[in-house]
Amino acid sequence: MVFAAPLGGRGAPHRPVLLEETLKFLAPERGGLFIDCTVGLGGHSEAVLMSSSDTRVIGIDLDTSALDYSRQRLERFGDRFRAVQANFRAIAEVLRQANERDPSGILVDLGVSSLQFDSPERGFSFRFDAPLDMRMDPASGITAADLLQQLPESEIARLIFEYGEERHSRRIARRIVERREQGKPITTTTELADLVRLAVGGHKRDQIHPATRTFQALRIAVNNELEGLGQFVESAIDLLKPNGRFVGISFHSLEDRILKRELRRLSGHCECPPRLPVCDCGAREVVEVLTRRPVVPGARELDENPRARSAKLRAARKL
Ligand SMILES: C[S@@+](CC[C@H](N)C(=O)[O-])C[C@H]1O[C@@H](n2cnc3c(N)ncnc32)[C@H](O)[C@@H]1O
Repeated sequence: MVFAAPLGGRGAPHRPVLLEETLKFLAPERGGLFIDCTVGLGGHSEAVLMSSSDTRVIGIDLDTSALDYSRQRLERFGDRFRAVQANFRAIAEVLRQANERDPSGILVDLGVSSLQFDSPERGFSFRFDAPLDMRMDPASGITAADLLQQLPESEIARLIFEYGEERHSRRIARRIVERREQGKPITTTTELADLVRLAVGGHKRDQIHPATRTFQALRIAVNNELEGLGQFVESAIDLLKPNGRFVGISFHSLEDRILKRELRRLSGHCECPPRLPVCDCGAREVVEVLTRRPVVPGARELDENPRARSAKLRAARKL
């Protein structure tokens, strides 16, 4: 199948988020093996491969459409690029199976790709009327519609509040469960977006759509996006060779907090509560944090790609 290039915000061609900043920290011109843990449309991987003819990339993704797309996009690099379907949490196993070790750089660009967000049938967006699916790997796991059908009301409210930072979470959960009790469970994106709009009221033109937070929360829950993220950062850093670089891009404050904490802990800062007599957070000094504050997109990037608005990048160097 030939894929059309997905468009970024305002119809511009898709552009990877924080690309220049990512390249600055990954420093792929040094050559070596780079692991793109979320290859998506292959934008970051392409730039890494272009930076030196000695650079190789293993691109991981859960989504087979993303892997097909990136394989096609990066075909011209021959065997310098390999695509692997896996959960990036299994990065150590991916490397073992690929018979590779000592990567020079590891990148994780969390969240959803334009390919997923702009494909109506994937159910990630309320811009299209479609089954409420939201699985990154459409061949496994439970859909968002099933989740809303199965979870208790309190749990639906909790996840919308925690993952969506939605203050009307209880009201939304109540309406979802009311519909369930009436034998009319939510099955489509439009049904959910309409329900949320009714539950929280309309929105002014300059505000985000009222369903945005609920959709984000459900996507995070369906794909277990926060679970095991901290352990992943630690295993990725353990795999890097000395002077290797780790770059993490997040789009949600909870993800950013995990990246920040984990990098601090692995740079030797104890993260235990102050009253604890001995450290049990496992702090050890294996990296130098390269970003004192998270790096965020500049005005020009935001103008070209409004979807980058909540992106934050953190980077570290293996000692
Ligand atoms: C923001 S996109 C990456 C875009 C990419 N950097 C580019 O330049 O096109 C995130 C990708 O990560 C994938 N993904 C999310 N969670 C994953 C996980 N746990 N394991 C592997 N891939 C994952 C998604 O399927 C999606 O394709």
